Amino acid sequence: MCGIIGYVGGDEVVPVLLDGLRRLEYRGYDSAGMAVLEGGAVRVLRAAGKLANLEQRAYQEPLHGTVGLGHTRWATHGAPTEANAHPQTDAAGSVAVVHNGILENYAALRAELAAAGCRLRSDTDTELIAQLLGAAAGSLLERVLATLPRLVGQYAVVAVRREEPDTVVAFRNGPPLVVGLGDGENLVASDVTALLHRTRRVLFLENGDVAVVRRDGVRVVRGDGSAAARPVEVLDWDAARAEKGGYRHFMLKEIHEQPDAIRNTVLAYLDTARHGVNLEGLGLAPDELARLRRLHLVACGTSWHAALVGKFMIEELTGLPVEVDYASEYRYRRPLIGDDLLVVGITQSGETADTLAAMELARDGGAQLATICNSRGSSAWRLARSRLLTQAGPEIGVASTKAFTTQLVALLSMALGLREALGRADHRDAELVAELQRLPLALEQALAIDPARYELGCELLSGSADSLYLGRGILYPIALEGALKLKEISYLHAEGYPAGEMKHGPIALLQEGFPVVAVVPDGPSRDKLLGNLMEVRARGAAVLAVTAGDGADLAHVADLVLPVPRVDPLLQPVVAVLPLQLLAYQVAVALGLDVDQPRNLAKSVTVE
Ligand code: AGP
Repeated sequence: MCGIIGYVGGDEVVPVLLDGLRRLEYRGYDSAGMAVLEGGAVRVLRAAGKLANLEQRAYQEPLHGTVGLGHTRWATHGAPTEANAHPQTDAAGSVAVVHNGILENYAALRAELAAAGCRLRSDTDTELIAQLLGAAAGSLLERVLATLPRLVGQYAVVAVRREEPDTVVAFRNGPPLVVGLGDGENLVASDVTALLHRTRRVLFLENGDVAVVRRDGVRVVRGDGSAAARPVEVLDWDAARAEKGGYRHFMLKEIHEQPDAIRNTVLAYLDTARHGVNLEGLGLAPDELARLRRLHLVACGTSWHAALVGKFMIEELTGLPVEVDYASEYRYRRPLIGDDLLVVGITQSGETADTLAAMELARDGGAQLATICNSRGSSAWRLARSRLLTQAGPEIGVASTKAFTTQLVALLSMALGLREALGRADHRDAELVAELQRLPLALEQALAIDPARYELGCELLSGSADSLYLGRGILYPIALEGALKLKEISYLHAEGYPAGEMKHGPIALLQEGFPVVAVVPDGPSRDKLLGNLMEVRARGAAVLAVTAGDGADLAHVADLVLPVPRVDPLLQPVVAVLPLQLLAYQVAVALGLDVDQPRNLAKSVTVE
């Protein structure tokens, strides 16, 4: 959702801002804009729609300067029009502001400003911030400090003022902001991917921080003006990992990066010398482990599917009961929280508003708090005491792929770590560790399926407005994930269902040629699922089956078999999801859709 970039340095700022915004496009947006300090004025350009429209405006109306702000907006207050795009300015055109988040006292502030005679020119909450800053007195920093108590809600704001042509001021409460420390230049952004090509030295702002960013340095203060020291961190992500690297789309590149991402994640957790898991990352003290009786996994979207798989892993390996919740439900359902509970927030971005709220609820209720997260330094990272970093690297495609599979590996590692700490380890642990080490190879084999094999699947799915994805047991969440992938990027309706439930309703959908994708398990439930597929076939529907092994026993029920290597059943979800990711990708490409930036979606959902 919304992206921010600010720059103070020696280079012409427009190319820097456009480049930063291009790197933030993946977050999802529907308008864009920038403000440049030029010759004692704040000059603003904005455009509805894609960044190309803003680039066109910048070509027609060139701006020059070395200090400025850029923004990609995902509409909340007001339609995605040019008037509502950011930056927003005050009445005098002195202050320009970009903003991620939502002001909760929008209506009251708007009424107050209107009553005071202020003529508002947009429907945004952001303009209210610009107007308040414009009406305050003193330097931009003093104006921000005076305005902060008036703002209720979530905001990451970056502002400039024409009277201070060497300064950018950034402040946050909720959505993240990171300052990049460059050579003769400093930047501020909502996301490190916008900075990586210029610097890897960053400092993360905390909620309530205000940063005064100048070319020769950065000063961070709190809302009362007192100084705050924030550590400088050096990121280990390199800019090339956020580039397409010869692939047509980020999503395809990220699908193919999974063997490496899994390898790195496994290496981070395993103690290969003793064939066990290194639990340091989880950091639970012995008395906390002794108290531990149950777990809650909270997450959204694809991360929630990872949680559903994690429940199987953790319950089987530790014997502890696990509840899985959508974070957006958990935060409002009064869950039973206590100090015998470990709550794990699973989030790729570490910035999903609902997941953060659920984690805060758990922390305030006295639970131990952990996160499985792909973003060191993110809000979830800083909130949790126990942290497992997935090593997926930057994930740019809105449809999550490598973040998901690394989450599954993190969950299995967490289960193994807890099992060992609880004194339950046996020979199975060493076997699972060995399986984890073999997993990247299995993924490479799964990715090596001849693309031509997908053609029939692609044809069937793209030719139908609806499809059904079936799974059982630990592979049921993979059916959900396969359906979500298809929906997200192809805009075709797909529904994930536990195969045994099909008879209780969805069977009514089946007719000649209706596509049913089945994720077929090994073990006792295989025959059950084959029985379900017979019912599907009997109604003339088409069956696409993903299965471990060669799938010879599926020949009579499936129109297409996508075979993947057989691994331990607890790890089979990691391998089985790959063909479903590729299938969704190929359908979206065949339909000519924008795979990496699907309509209406945002990579990081920072509002409720
Ligand atoms: C995944 O393909 C989606 N884009 C979405 O469901 C995502 O997983 C969800 O918004 C949660 O994001 P998070 O992992 O960053 O918290």
